[in-house]
Amino acid sequence: MTPEKHLILIVDDDATTANWLRNLLGRKGYEVMAASTGQEAIHLARSYSPDIIFLDLVLPDIDGLDVCTTLRNDPRTATSAIIMFTVRDRPEEISAGLQAGADDYVIKRPEAVGEILERLPSWLTESRATQFMGRGRMISFFSAKGGIGTSVLCINIAYALSKLVEPKSVAVADMVLPLGSIASMVNADVSTTVVRLTLEDRRPTRPMVGKYFVPLDLWNFRVLVGSKDPMEAQTMQVERVPAVFESLRASFDYLCVDFGKGLSKITLPLLQTSEAIVFVISPDLSTVKLSKTVLNFLHGIGITDAQLFPVLNRAVGREGLTKGQIENELGISIQGAIPYAHNNFTLSINQSRPYALQFPNDTPSMMLESMAEQLKSHVDKMIPR
Ligand SMILES: Nc1ncnc2c1ncn2[C@@H]1O[C@H](COP(=O)(O)OP(=O)(O)O)[C@@H](O)[C@H]1O
Ligand SMILES: [Mg+2]
Repeated sequence: MTPEKHLILIVDDDATTANWLRNLLGRKGYEVMAASTGQEAIHLARSYSPDIIFLDLVLPDIDGLDVCTTLRNDPRTATSAIIMFTVRDRPEEISAGLQAGADDYVIKRPEAVGEILERLPSWLTESRATQFMGRGRMISFFSAKGGIGTSVLCINIAYALSKLVEPKSVAVADMVLPLGSIASMVNADVSTTVVRLTLEDRRPTRPMVGKYFVPLDLWNFRVLVGSKDPMEAQTMQVERVPAVFESLRASFDYLCVDFGKGLSKITLPLLQTSEAIVFVISPDLSTVKLSKTVLNFLHGIGITDAQLFPVLNRAVGREGLTKGQIENELGISIQGAIPYAHNNFTLSINQSRPYALQFPNDTPSMMLESMAEQLKSHVDKMIPR
């Protein structure tokens, strides 16, 4: 892409600043437009969808923060990189700017010219990258009770799926709060957790998100590890979670998310927007009862049977209810079942290896593979939400 193709909109009521910036960017070969009021800025931005918008906050008609919010919520300008360019330099002003949806914040001072020229290339890639938002399919893993294999199924199905869809990308994110377990299961000892990602003070973009995902050769997917200790989880910037997940989805073809038994204000909206919810059930009576309660709740909040993908995991032994009894009790049809595997799941996890690599000829390996196939066709035919 040649620089001439990029369009930059400068919004400033001060003609001196606007001309100075116009000359600077014009000399670099960018196409530049200018607006001196908020109204004009919104009109031009909607008509031309600029790659970058430099936005002064002090405008004669509308406050720059409101201009920013308006542009962010409009599909024609949602993918433009918005850079606040202003004299407002107090920390709370900067934070308000970023909260309003700006990608970056540059204070009007002599150093600004260096900052702008240095960051311009990344603003441009980010504005284009975000155009693919909403592309990926989200597969959530969820159960009514802990300890029944939700996390091991999440990573092992993600492994099978990644083999199936290659070269398409599969990623796993651990949203079990306040303490994730996937990092230890796949042996990813990193500090780039999902909690940290919510603490970034910029709108999450694909390049930023990419840095948080660790590639795992053995597992064939990338992983975003969960909270590393309950203390860390307390610091999560909850209102950032939806934007973070929007970016996660935009970054991969298939995103598998472990929610454990989390049904909170944070996780519910994410479950609701999943193309598939793998609902893990174990055959013991107490889990089945809890699963019934949870299913009623999920239906009540508008989650459909088309989203639900119930699986039976005999994590606790051979005893318990039969598949038919569980289906009767819950009024759903179970899509697949994993047999009791004695301590083989534990053995494979102790080695941080996919079950199918450790025990390729075991029944669970075949079941995991066929579940991944079913899930793939289940989510592929759904329109991403
Ligand atoms: N089908 C199975 N057969 C035998 N053990 C299993 C099976 N599924 C899971 N497990 C074991 O159950 C334990 C709990 O699994 P985990 O994924 O951590 O549960 P959860 O995420 O639901 O809390 C692990 O030790 C795992 O190895
Ligand atoms: Mg778990």
